[in-house]
Amino acid sequence: MCGIVAYIGQQEAYPILIKGLRRLEYRGYDSAGVAMMNGKLNVYKKKGKVDELVNFAENQDKTGTIGIAHTRWATHGEPNDKNAHPHAAEGEKLTIVHNGIIENYEVLKKALLKQGHIFKSDTDTEVLAHLIGEIKEREQLPIEEAVRLALNKVIGAYAIVVLDSDEPDKLVAARKSSPLVLGIGENEFFLASDASPIVEYTKKVVYINDEEIVVATKDGNFNLRNLRNEETEPRFHYLDMQIEMLEKEGYDYFMLKEIFQQPRSVADCMRGRLNAEKNWILLNDVENNLEKFLHANRIIFIGCGTSWHAGLVAEYLFEDIARIPVEVEYASEFRYRNPVIREGDIVIPISQSGETADTLAAIELAKQKGAFVYGVVNVVGSSIARTAHAGSYIHAGPEIGVASTKAFTGQLTLLTMMALYLGHRKGTISNDHYHRLLVEFSKIPDKIRQVLDYDKEIQAIAQQVRNAQNALYLGRGYNFPVALEGALKLKEISYIHAEGYPAAEMKHGPIALIDALMPVIVIATNKSAYEKIVSNIQEVKARRGVVIAIVTEGDQQIRRMADFVIEIPEVEEIFAPLISAVPLQLLAYHIAVMRGCNVDQLVI
Ligand code: F6R
Repeated sequence: MCGIVAYIGQQEAYPILIKGLRRLEYRGYDSAGVAMMNGKLNVYKKKGKVDELVNFAENQDKTGTIGIAHTRWATHGEPNDKNAHPHAAEGEKLTIVHNGIIENYEVLKKALLKQGHIFKSDTDTEVLAHLIGEIKEREQLPIEEAVRLALNKVIGAYAIVVLDSDEPDKLVAARKSSPLVLGIGENEFFLASDASPIVEYTKKVVYINDEEIVVATKDGNFNLRNLRNEETEPRFHYLDMQIEMLEKEGYDYFMLKEIFQQPRSVADCMRGRLNAEKNWILLNDVENNLEKFLHANRIIFIGCGTSWHAGLVAEYLFEDIARIPVEVEYASEFRYRNPVIREGDIVIPISQSGETADTLAAIELAKQKGAFVYGVVNVVGSSIARTAHAGSYIHAGPEIGVASTKAFTGQLTLLTMMALYLGHRKGTISNDHYHRLLVEFSKIPDKIRQVLDYDKEIQAIAQQVRNAQNALYLGRGYNFPVALEGALKLKEISYIHAEGYPAAEMKHGPIALIDALMPVIVIATNKSAYEKIVSNIQEVKARRGVVIAIVTEGDQQIRRMADFVIEIPEVEEIFAPLISAVPLQLLAYHIAVMRGCNVDQLVI
């Protein structure tokens, strides 16, 4: 979760670095630091927010047109000033910022200690700094060569930028399994862990590949080499991102903005791919690989957190509509098992960021075992998008709040299109049924808009339950993964313990927890299992639980039983998650804000 920004060019670096750190602060951090070069290297770092770093550096020398900066989320060593980045070595001549984890740092550190190195922090990053410094001094090498040799000794993940006062007109950066983007301006370069600190200066970027080292110099040149020291060709991309996308645009939090963006982001995902009137869906890469999909023995969805929940919804969709057997796996479990992958298996990783390390590792494993990998990703140009054999973007735009909202509905939209398209091509749904579903599906953005109109009512319910310590979310069928997602949203941003369950499972254990202090959020829009959901609500009421029911507009029966009711428009059951997820996002948001939580960030 750490963030990197670096600059080399003709402008003063410090304001660019600080602005960049602020753009990255949405992901949460525990400390921040900067290093600027102006004849000598000035390094300032501080525990806490970027503001604390700014106050600390206020009366210090911050001049220089080359610099590196970092926001840290502690992995090795507690969050404090000394563990903050940048880390120095070689008598403070060389500094480095790093995202990722150096897995063999203890072995490397032992060897360096024997050689007389003294460490000031508890971090793996400082070990890497010393390793680079040691190789550079001992072999008398240019800094990029020392970085290359050092990285050949490293096991783990990294995105690094190195600033060396012996070569003050140069930045050296590299990555493996941790994202890094090079922004190319007029005689200036930007490096960052995502494009958000770069986009206001230039749209021209190169996404650095795994095991690539970039050297950017003040005279406006850059080159790329791999760890074997072979030159590699840069592939230029142009960012399709406006700076307003990175602003709150009047909303109190990014999360709220992103919830309210969903009618548009879902429509954007459909744009050019769905035409209900003319009865078609077109997804280029599905079309290009149609034979593989039509003859797939099995589809395995992999992901983490919310993206895994989207995979669970996809299981219902693909089995129901396209009659393809599906499995859904946590990427973190899949990668450490020895999964059976057979010919004809398709692996579909789902990811908002396209950078989640477990998902990336699971893809590598799937590829090694011969699977065809089709990525469903939001961030354009991200590692997963580039690693998969083919795929589709969800086009939700930058998701800045830490809780995934519009990415979830974007993932559901894309996966629904895939399932419908494949069902139609396979003949597992009739043409008439397909047409009716497409017409219904194209109305989803408007129906999400209608749900958002209930925001005030949802806020009033949040007020009633904001002091709860536990909450239970129940759903059946297509709404079961939504129950899991609702619970995840609540615990992630409000720090209330919450669990999601298939409603029928409640009686097999969790029912024991229900009492008058327990809000039970029941997603009760299913037509097919309506009576069963009604009896689940009765069971909760019999134990005096507080029922918040998400019901279809006009539902009187559940209204009479539940303590609170949120109405949502009627939709075909297969589209229910796209609608029922939205009130749960708003409920979690309002509860968290009422509890004084910063919903956009991880807690420090
Ligand atoms: C929850 C959330 C996380 C992510 C998970 C996967 O609101 O944001 O659970 O869904 O970390 O991230 P991506 O989708 O970027 O792979």
